[in-house]
Amino acid sequence: MKQASLPAPTALGERARKVLDENWTGDHTVPSRSLYPHQWSWDSGFIAIGLAVAAPERGWRELRSLFCAQWPDGRVPHIVFDPDVAERDYFPGPAFWDAPQPPDSDHATTGVIQPPVHALAAWELYRRTGDGDQLSWLYPRLVAQQNYLARNRDLGGNGLASIVHPWESGQDNSPAWDLPLAAVPADMDLLRRHRRRDIAVAESQDRPTDADYARYIALAESYRAGGYRDADLLDRHPFVVEDPAFNAIVAAAELSLADIAEAVGADPVPHKAEAARITHAVVTRLYDRETGMFHARDVRTGGRSPAHCIGGLIPLLLPDLPAELADSLVQQASSDRFGMHELPVPSYDRTAPDFDTHRYWRGPIWVNMNWLLLRGLRVHGYYDRARMLRRSMLAMIERCGCYEYYHPVTCEGIGAEEFSWTAALALDMLFS
Ligand code: SER
Repeated sequence: MKQASLPAPTALGERARKVLDENWTGDHTVPSRSLYPHQWSWDSGFIAIGLAVAAPERGWRELRSLFCAQWPDGRVPHIVFDPDVAERDYFPGPAFWDAPQPPDSDHATTGVIQPPVHALAAWELYRRTGDGDQLSWLYPRLVAQQNYLARNRDLGGNGLASIVHPWESGQDNSPAWDLPLAAVPADMDLLRRHRRRDIAVAESQDRPTDADYARYIALAESYRAGGYRDADLLDRHPFVVEDPAFNAIVAAAELSLADIAEAVGADPVPHKAEAARITHAVVTRLYDRETGMFHARDVRTGGRSPAHCIGGLIPLLLPDLPAELADSLVQQASSDRFGMHELPVPSYDRTAPDFDTHRYWRGPIWVNMNWLLLRGLRVHGYYDRARMLRRSMLAMIERCGCYEYYHPVTCEGIGAEEFSWTAALALDMLFS
């Protein structure tokens, strides 16, 4: 096994390490002590990428504790609940979800999923540590996660995974979901029965609206009512959407799995074929020649979201993307809508009348999405722009701290302070 050498300290590096140390529970890293006191799936993936630099043993442990809660059908739940955290400290907690207990874990979970960034993280950890035992433990579990998506979640029958709740995208209140969500009644009575916890610990202007939150609860209840079964979901569940960012990450995970397969003595060819197949489906289903970028599709109606959201740029991650499409995405990212110059890319179109500088995924800058974009710029050889984006992200984090998200004009930090994935990805950008 290679001995990972730890990078030389910098002021930001030290600060970022401290955030990860303070958010470490001994078993996993919480995204934030105040707002998100459990283990979140895609957060753990990004966190493990930073831990690959700062504390690789903890990175492996992070992924292991998450995958111990994998369901028998292969799904990796979006939250693994910490039994030491009281129900009242996070809503919706274990009692609300009432999900079946995963066989290898004594932790309760949610029934929904998040983008599968974990194969990318496993490969980063292996590149730095050479720990084949850890990689071999994870490989079949990562494959089962992908198989769940291909077998259970191709609800449209087009070769793409559907999300069945905005929380599954990780970009909860992105305008990309506005059209499909409009078909879900906002039953405000749900908010009388269930008290929001997020707005007790964060500014309500920075969080999703009550109307959106009522819809989130209704959708979680709808999925729960069918026992989290996916069969026939299209007939009985009001939100089924193909998200370009989610699917680009699924395809990128297959490419990491091809590398992982070679390292553990398995066959990489099926993973490469899967990545090519999904890339083709993303291009044919979700690319819009008129806007020059990708848009989410409502599987129930066939309608494509007109909103220009950062998720529509994330297929840049895919090496098989035709060069003219990659070029168009870079042009869009650099246009007035997203303005990738001095500042990183905001979550939503700066020129849209409903661009909102504060409200979660409706305008603010998020480091994880920009990190994916940075990776895509490198994949397609846009090295100057990649350098610029890396520099602007590091400058923002250095100046304002490791926040959950940032004001897209002033870069002031918004949401949770000492946020783990921002710290983790800063470490990756500093030292990779
Ligand atoms: N992001 C959602 C929350 O705030 C759910 O994962 O709680």
